[in-house]
This record gives sequence, structure tokens and C-alpha cells, in this order.
Amino acid sequence: MTEKKVVIVTGAARGIGRAATDLFLADGWNVVMIDRLGELLEAEASKLQNTFALKADVSNPQDANRIMTEAVREFGRVDCLVNNAGVADFGLLEEHDFARWRRVMETNLDGVFLCSQAAIPYLKEGRGSIVNIGSISGLRASTLRVAYGTSKAAVIHLTKQQAAELGEYGVRVNCVSPGPVATEMSKQVHSQDIIDAYHDAIPLNRYGTEREIAEAIVFLASDKASYITGQVIAVDGGFDATGVGLPALRS
Ligand SMILES: NC(=O)c1ccc[n+]([C@@H]2O[C@H](COP(=O)([O-])OP(=O)(O)OC[C@H]3O[C@@H](n4cnc5c(N)ncnc54)[C@H](O)[C@@H]3O)[C@@H](O)[C@H]2O)c1
Repeated sequence: MTEKKVVIVTGAARGIGRAATDLFLADGWNVVMIDRLGELLEAEASKLQNTFALKADVSNPQDANRIMTEAVREFGRVDCLVNNAGVADFGLLEEHDFARWRRVMETNLDGVFLCSQAAIPYLKEGRGSIVNIGSISGLRASTLRVAYGTSKAAVIHLTKQQAAELGEYGVRVNCVSPGPVATEMSKQVHSQDIIDAYHDAIPLNRYGTEREIAEAIVFLASDKASYITGQVIAVDGGFDATGVGLPALRS
């Protein structure tokens, strides 16, 4: 068994998961990189040491179990699971049919549930932790996000459910809820109007970076956060803290 701690990062091929992989490696962790974009995942992992890349779909129960058994076969232990894989689909409430709803829920909510369930026996062995990735869209309702926002609100509550039961075993569970970051995902769903509206409503007046989100993830996974569990940290430039007024101030 490796002496180094082992983290599983889902959705690690690009975006926030890829940035978190870099920061975990810099902090001396071994990283199991999971993504369903197999070619991109292999290409990214081949640039890095101390990683193990596995193509898998977090919404598939068999894959969720395979992720854990392969991680343990490769590195001998699992100390942290970062449930980062996610999909976004912005559209009007009345245009969301069941297929669109399910496509979002199966990755964003089912995937978090399934991977966590599969990881729990291993996390209990080492008093490990889970970091779930929510969203500002799970903290505040907005238009076009009936499935996405609801899935992320559920992840935030699931975090608290998991923390409630797993604390007994020394396993901590927290959630990072990012504000907007210019990743491939957000480029697909953020129109110029949405970008302008975010800038108006965010005290820091800009998007975040992948690295800024990753810093919070790695902190929560680390021993520095040893008495933090059941918490939701919005890494959002102050968006969640504010209400009316900012656009008027800026005009
Ligand atoms: N970018 C933002 O503005 C923003 C804001 C709030 C929350 N988030 C959340 O951050 C997380 C990361 O998003 P990102 O912006 O880096 O997006 P991204 O699209 O760049 O990366 C997400 C990765 O997850 C992978 N993935 C998706 N579904 C999967 C599945 N079923 N199984 C395995 N892999 C899967 C994708 O292939 C992709 O590589 C997501 O949970 C997202 O909802 C992002």
C-alpha cells in the first residue's frame, strides 16, 4: 500500500476536475482521474506522474463500483472522493422533458450518490472524506435551471445527509459550490446575457478560475479541515451573499 494519500477525482479530464488534479498532485497526493471522455483523459493523464486514469461513467452503478476496486488495486487505499463530474443543460421549464431532466439528474445527482456509496467502505477504513461539487445554482434559484439547479440543491442536501451519518466513522463530507467559471461546460450554456448578468451580480465583478475552485476542494480534503464537515462553501466572488443593489451601484 502506498504511503501517499489517494484521491479519486471524477470529471478530471478538463475544467475544475483537471485543476484539482494538479493541486492534489502538488500537495503530494496520488490521484485517480475519472472521466467518460476516455481519449482526453488519457492524453491529460499521460502528462502527469502519480496518477491512474480510468474511463468510467459515474451514473452507471457498475462503473461506480469498478472505480473503487480499480483505485484500490492500483494504489491500495482511498482517502478522498471528489464528486466533480457534472453536466449542464439550461432551458425553459416547459421545454424540459423527462429525458432532459434525467440526463442532468443521472450524472449530477445519481453519480454523486453512486460513487459515494461505493467509496464509503474504503473511506471508513482511513477516516477519509468526500468533497461534493454543488453550484451557486443550487443555492439560489434562477431561470433556465430547473434540472441543473435542482440537481445541485439536492447535492447540497445530500452532503449534509452524508455528513450526518458518516461523522460517526470520522469521515467528513463537505460541498464546494462554485460561482461561474469559464470552462467548456459554462461556455456551452452561458450566453452573453448570462455572462453580463453574472458580472453585474458578483461583488468581485468577474468569473472565478478553475484554480480558485480547486483550492477550496483541496483544502476541504486536507487535514487542515479536520473539524469541518457538513458545510457548503460558496466559492463565488460573493454572489451568494448579495441581493439587490449592485447593478445600480455600478451604473
Ligand atoms: N463552470 C462553472 O461555471 C460551474 C459553476 C458551478 C458548478 N460547476 C460544477 O463544477 C463541476 C465541474 O464542471 P466544469 O465547469 O469543470 O465542467 P467541464 O464540462 O469542463 O468538466 C466536467 C467533466 O465531467 C465529465 N463528466 C460529465 N459527466 C460524466 C459522467 N457521467 N461520468 C464521468 N465523467 C463525466 C465531462 O466529460 C468533463 O470532462 C460540475 O459538477 C459543474 O456542475 C461548474
